[in-house]
Amino acid sequence: MTEAAFTPRVFSGIQPSGNLHLGNYLGALKRFAEAQNKGIQTLYCMVDLHAITVWQDPADLARATRELAAGFIASGLDPARSILFNQSQVAEHTQMAWVFNCVARMGWMQRMTQFKDKAGKNAQNASLGLFAYPALMAADILTYHATHVPVGEDQKQHLELTRDIAIKFNHDYGVEFFPIPEPVIEGAATRVMSLRDGSSKMSKSDPSDMSRINLTDDADTIAKKIRKAKTDPEPLPSEVAGLEGRPEARNLVNIYAALADMTVDQVMAEAGGKPFSEFKPMLADLAVDRIAPISTEMARLMQDLSEIDRILADGAARARAIAAPILRQTYEIMGMVGAREV
Ligand code: AMP
Ligand code: TRP
Repeated sequence: MTEAAFTPRVFSGIQPSGNLHLGNYLGALKRFAEAQNKGIQTLYCMVDLHAITVWQDPADLARATRELAAGFIASGLDPARSILFNQSQVAEHTQMAWVFNCVARMGWMQRMTQFKDKAGKNAQNASLGLFAYPALMAADILTYHATHVPVGEDQKQHLELTRDIAIKFNHDYGVEFFPIPEPVIEGAATRVMSLRDGSSKMSKSDPSDMSRINLTDDADTIAKKIRKAKTDPEPLPSEVAGLEGRPEARNLVNIYAALADMTVDQVMAEAGGKPFSEFKPMLADLAVDRIAPISTEMARLMQDLSEIDRILADGAARARAIAAPILRQTYEIMGMVGAREV
C-alpha cells in the first residue's frame, strides 16, 4: 500500500489518570502542538476508557479528564484547530475495538510488556480490559485512518501492534482500507527519566512526588525539584560521549535540550564542563520559564468547567463525523448486514 493514498492525519491519546508531568509534556503534549502548528489535521483524545482498565474513582476520573483537557489547551492545543475530545463520547472507538479484538491474536497480546508491567505478579486478577487495551488503542487510531501517531518511547510496542492489526485486517479481507500508521517518536525527550533515579521512567504512578515535575507545580516547586534532582558528583563532561554511563546527567541534559528546542550537541557546547551547581540553576530557570505558565493557565481553565465540557462535546461531534463513516465501511467490508444504514 502506498502511504500517499491516505491524507496525513495525526492522532494521539493520553490517559486521564492524574499527575500530568514533564515526561508527558516533552514526550507527547509539546509534540502534539508542533503537529497542529504544521497545519496537519490533528485529533487528541483523553482516553478515559483506557484509564478504567485499572480502578478509577468516578469523581477522580471526571476531574482528571477535565484537568487533562486543560493541560492540552495550556500546552498550546487550540480547540478550533485540533479536535480535542474524550474517548467515551465517541462510541465508534469501542465498536471498532471489538472488531480488532477479533483480528488481534492472543500471542500478540501476550507479548505486550506494558501489560506484564501493569498486571504485575497477579496477572490472573488483572482486568480483561487491561489485556485487550492495545486493541482499543488500535481502534482509536485506525477509526480515523490516522497516518501519524506522536508518542513517547514506551508506546512503541503498542504502535507496532496497531500496524500488525491494520496489516492483518487488510490482508484477511483483501482490501487496502486501513493505513499503516507511523509512530512519531522523535527529539531529545522521548523517554524522560525520574529525577530521583536515572534508570526508571518519570511516571505518574511513582510514589515520590520529587521524582517528577507535575504540570500543576508552581515555580518554586519546579525549581526545588531540579535543585534536589539526583546527580553524580562529577561536573558535566565536555562532550556528548562522556554522558555514557551517567544516566542522571544524561536525563538533565536531555530535558534541557527538549525544553530549549536545542540538540543535545548544542546543549553540550553551551554547558559542557560546568558543575551541577551551575547547570542546575540554568535548567531550573528554563523549566520555570516553560512549565510555570502552563500550570497557571491550567488553573485558570479549571475555573470554568462548563467551558471545558463544551469544548469536549464539540470535539466529540467533530470526531464522530470522521469515525462513523469509517466504522460503517469496516462493517460493510466484513459483511455486517445493514451496515449502510448504521
Ligand atoms: P500516559 O500518561 O501513560 O497515558 O502517557 C501519555 C503520553 O506521554 C504517551 O505518549 C507516553 O509515551 C508519554 N510519556 C509518558 N511518560 C513519559 C516519559 N517519562 N517520557 C516521555 N514520554 C512519556
Ligand atoms: N496507550 C497510551 C498511553 O498509555 C494512550 C493511548 C491510548 C494512545 N490510545 C492511543 C496513544 C492512541 C496514541 C494513540 O500512553
